[in-house]
Amino acid sequence: MTELVRRRLARAVTAGFVAATALTAAAHGAAAADTLGSAAAGKGLYFGTAVAANHLGESAYTATLDREFSSVTPENEMKWDAIEPSRNTFTFGSADQIVTHAQGKGMDVRGHTLVWHSQLPSWVGGLGASDLRSAMNNHITRLMDHYKGKIHSWDVVNEAFQDGGSGARRSSPFQDKLGNGFIEEAFRTARTADPAAKLCYNDYNTDGVNAKSNAVYAMVKDFKARGVPIDCVGFQSHFNPASPVPSDYQANLQRFADLGVDVQITELDIEGSGSAQATNYANVVKACMAVSRCTGLTVWGVTDKYSWRSGGTPLLFDGNYTKKPAYDAVIAALGGTPGGGDGGTPGGGTATCKATYTRTADWDGGYNGEVTITAGDRAISSWQTTVTLTPPQKTQSVWNGSPTWDAAGNVMTVRPTWNGSLAAGASTSFGFTVGKNGSNAAPVVGACTAS
Ligand code: G3I
Repeated sequence: MTELVRRRLARAVTAGFVAATALTAAAHGAAAADTLGSAAAGKGLYFGTAVAANHLGESAYTATLDREFSSVTPENEMKWDAIEPSRNTFTFGSADQIVTHAQGKGMDVRGHTLVWHSQLPSWVGGLGASDLRSAMNNHITRLMDHYKGKIHSWDVVNEAFQDGGSGARRSSPFQDKLGNGFIEEAFRTARTADPAAKLCYNDYNTDGVNAKSNAVYAMVKDFKARGVPIDCVGFQSHFNPASPVPSDYQANLQRFADLGVDVQITELDIEGSGSAQATNYANVVKACMAVSRCTGLTVWGVTDKYSWRSGGTPLLFDGNYTKKPAYDAVIAALGGTPGGGDGGTPGGGTATCKATYTRTADWDGGYNGEVTITAGDRAISSWQTTVTLTPPQKTQSVWNGSPTWDAAGNVMTVRPTWNGSLAAGASTSFGFTVGKNGSNAAPVVGACTAS
């Protein structure tokens, strides 16, 4: 049995478990919707996203990430400038944060990227050839060693070919000083550093058959013929009206797969909206599914608002983490069950929330209270709760919530200000200051209602 078949079988067993769980839920009357990760697992694929460490503290971001995706790629945190900003000083903090989070949620991690001309600190470009060679190999070895056993695939070399019709290598410190052989050397070093990791070449504008992809194809063919260790080719798949999904996308994936490497969609985003965007996304997913060595897809971000091309709204969740038509199209293409109690699709399940109270500060004449509102098992667009004080206590101020009072001024009804939209399971909070006027009684927080 090949590694690929084993992986797909393992995925299918997991998917069977997910499906069985969903059936049980359906039998009990609950909605049984798939997520991107579970629907993809049903087809033996992973469904990943690029993640930025500095957004992990945002509850809606993390709730969506954890619910939907089965693989993550650090968007910038494993690049050379982040990992080795000065020679032999390695800073793994932000990348570690992502890897630890992913492992805690049972997600795979793609490593991006070991050798790239961009986001390269200036000290690298200043080295002479032999120094550069040892710096490159040292960087690969130290970085891979740090994450040994935790990365399913590494982008060993990224974007080493020029755009346009030349099929030539791109100018970079590595190309210019070490020549064509730097790519082969990087792959050999990487294999030694972590023999279990899949080693990928990754590029953009190689998604259809063209001069650039032909050049990459020739390199991979040569590597396979000479036994240079390469396991996979990544197709970034950044699409927009000027660079649409090519009509020979699937055929191109297939010709690389036929060389004996896996193929992966590594940075998918498609600018646009509505049904046009949805159709494009579905076509990409279907192309991957039709190529047996296509092992998974990664979209280049969780939400449009943090996309590197946010103006083009190229992702599956909008800025409020609501599922877009493209999301539904991906689920449908994967043969999943759309909608249901999974957040984001209005109408799927009942909107619920809960409110919990904490006293966050206390002094002789008053106290501060904080109420945390947490959405239930679907996304909500608004919420409301009450806070009842014991007279003669009086509210002095309220923040992150919009209050109204009953005639006596004891019962405060609070609605959202800016923070009404919450993804399933996500939280927000509002706070208030109360003058005790001699009473230290705790306020009573009423039921939370959501829409
Ligand atoms: O974090 C700093 C911030 O402190 C500073 O204030 C700000 C000012 O410009 O910059 C911030 O860093 C930015 C970083 O993204 C994090 O947001 C960099 O300027 C910006 O250049 C960087 O862009 C990244 C880009 O690669 C760099 O080439 C994008 O996030 C990232 O999505 C993009 O990803 C690449 C893949 O690695 C390779 N394929 C193409 C893809 C899209 O360009």
